[in-house]
Amino acid sequence: MEALALEASVCTRCPLAATRTQVVWGRGNPAADLVFVGEAPGADEDAQGQPFVGRSGRLLDRLVAEEMGLSDADFYVLNTLKCRPPGNRDPKPDELDACSGWFDAQLERLEPKVVVPLGNFATRRLLDTTEGITRLRGRTYPWRGRTLVPTYHPAAVLRGGAQPMAEMRADLVRAKLVLDEVAS
Ligand code: URA
Repeated sequence: MEALALEASVCTRCPLAATRTQVVWGRGNPAADLVFVGEAPGADEDAQGQPFVGRSGRLLDRLVAEEMGLSDADFYVLNTLKCRPPGNRDPKPDELDACSGWFDAQLERLEPKVVVPLGNFATRRLLDTTEGITRLRGRTYPWRGRTLVPTYHPAAVLRGGAQPMAEMRADLVRAKLVLDEVAS
């Protein structure tokens, strides 16, 4: 996977190449059974070169520690889009298409057993649906020989307050149960 990341680091497949500081590939343990999938890097990630290192990332790490008892030595986190959209706007369909080769190859090489897509972009992308995360979360999905456990994006939880927070916690507990099952 290192060779793939190196190749991606000089990618010019879409116009975000002109505005990014650097390509944000992934963080954590690439051999882990558990993978989280986010949307796109924000300003902190663009500056530091790692996904989920800003406010959303701190919340994700905290909830995963509290509800699953895991740290990033036990999981890997990546985004569907590898470069920051200027001003943190939503990714555009042509940008997601341009990046899908990197994302698909990365996910394939990771060989996770449990995949937790965070929010609408990642969940819709993986489940190939236009349905919203509120309806999609709360259950598991068999997906290409793996199990998908969708939940909210931590940024939505930061905005949304107590209810999405409680639901995200419940989803993480669900993901840990599946992880324990497939690992045993
Ligand atoms: N939000 C995301 O979806 N990904 C990041 O890496 C940071 C914030």
